[in-house]
Amino acid sequence: MSYTHRSPKPLSTHAVGVLAIMLAMPIEVFSQAGAHGVTFSEDIAPILQRSCQNCHRPNSVAPMSLLTYEDVRPYARRIKERTMLRDRMGVMPPWFIEKDVGIQAYQNDISLSETEIAMIAEWADNGAPRGDPNDMPAPRVFAAEDEWDIGTPDLIVDLPPYTMEAEAPDWWGMIPPVSSGLAEDRYVAAMEVKEVSDVEGGIGGKFIFHHAIIMSTGANGRPNGRWPVHEVGRNAEMFDPLAGPILRAGSRFMIPGVHMHSNGEKTTAYLRLGFKFHPQGYEPERRSTLLNFGNGEIDLRPMQDGQEVHIFHTLQQNMKITAFEPHMHAAGVRMCMEAVWGGRTETLTCAGYDHNWVKVYNYAEDAAPLLPRGTLLHVTAYFDTTADNKNVIDPRNWGGLGHRSIDNMAIVFAPGLVLNDEQFAEEIAKRRLRLGLAKGEGMLGCPLCGFEELPGNGRR
Ligand code: HEC
Repeated sequence: MSYTHRSPKPLSTHAVGVLAIMLAMPIEVFSQAGAHGVTFSEDIAPILQRSCQNCHRPNSVAPMSLLTYEDVRPYARRIKERTMLRDRMGVMPPWFIEKDVGIQAYQNDISLSETEIAMIAEWADNGAPRGDPNDMPAPRVFAAEDEWDIGTPDLIVDLPPYTMEAEAPDWWGMIPPVSSGLAEDRYVAAMEVKEVSDVEGGIGGKFIFHHAIIMSTGANGRPNGRWPVHEVGRNAEMFDPLAGPILRAGSRFMIPGVHMHSNGEKTTAYLRLGFKFHPQGYEPERRSTLLNFGNGEIDLRPMQDGQEVHIFHTLQQNMKITAFEPHMHAAGVRMCMEAVWGGRTETLTCAGYDHNWVKVYNYAEDAAPLLPRGTLLHVTAYFDTTADNKNVIDPRNWGGLGHRSIDNMAIVFAPGLVLNDEQFAEEIAKRRLRLGLAKGEGMLGCPLCGFEELPGNGRR
């Protein structure tokens, strides 16, 4: 059996546009920009609206607003520098997926295309011209200061505030239970956690919650739900539509393990949990799992780039992986996940890493890996302990496993669905239909997508 490799078909017009633009590089860069070269009004403002203003506006997480030409003009050069970092630490917007390898379709992808990066550079180099104000797009409308990526939550739960002194050792502890006030059982479609803080002028980079393990408990105090771990600067988690986890009536939320660190400024902050529910009557058809694995021998030499830690996990059941979330600490700069099955090794995703922004990348529905049991997941975590890595406080230190941010970790969170053979065959049939895959036409992350009928089905 031979496979033709193929990426998932671009499904949105945006994805089609990006692809078309990438193929047309670099001539397209200039013809895109209109007769007068790249201008703020015509070319730059739409990019900022889509990928930056959610954070860069008054009372959001970023230190400055990027709403108007007057706001943006002084930052033109720094915008060029930050966007040119692409998938490396410090890039704006904070989104680190590598575009030349692995799966490319993710939900809520705010990253810039090569054309957009080039346009910004050209604009900055040409003195950041405003252009014709009549070309400005209508301003983006923000619902509220604390707009959520999951839409307006159906339930918001605020946990109690904590204060960290300007300079203090890291702190680990527990946050006691808080009532959810939920009157009936509901299935959750998406979840987002915000750190709400009294830091002035943008909280991003000034977070004090490093991570929080989130659990719900019943009235009897027993755990009744495990939720995605909140991490510093993390974005929203979209659960698979077929496997919304249940939140029980009367549940309380608690944090059995919270890790806090100071940010150089005395800060009081709390976590705000937002939940988007499925409609009443919804029933999940699939079982979800919060797969995570990692650590192992971490032995990092001082002042050395390109150090690797390898971690492995064999899937005991068929799985659809719905998200990829690297977790390292300050020395971490990159993580890649490969799937090894049937003698083939495929890179599913590679992403840069910046310990100020622990991102979760939710795969687009038709791009999520569909992996048969027995697949070996191989994760490589890359570390840089040189002074070039600005997150490393003292490059002279040896580094090993530990809980402090200056110690190290190498963990991947790869949540998804656990599928029995019948469900697995259904998922593959659905994928083949939606993408119009021909017989024998596999795709990245789905080694069995070329089969009309799964080999050994019913016997495995
Ligand atoms: C998820 C929130 C978020 C998004 C989206 C985002 N930023 Fe930022 N940005 C921040 C935060 C927080 C900081 C401050 C911490 C830092 O410098 O990394 C920052 C810092 C910056 C800086 C450095 C400012 C300085 O004083 O040097 C620039 C430039 C910048 N952003 C530009 C952009 C541009 C351009 C985009 C969109 C293409 C963007 N950002 C998207 C949150 C965001």
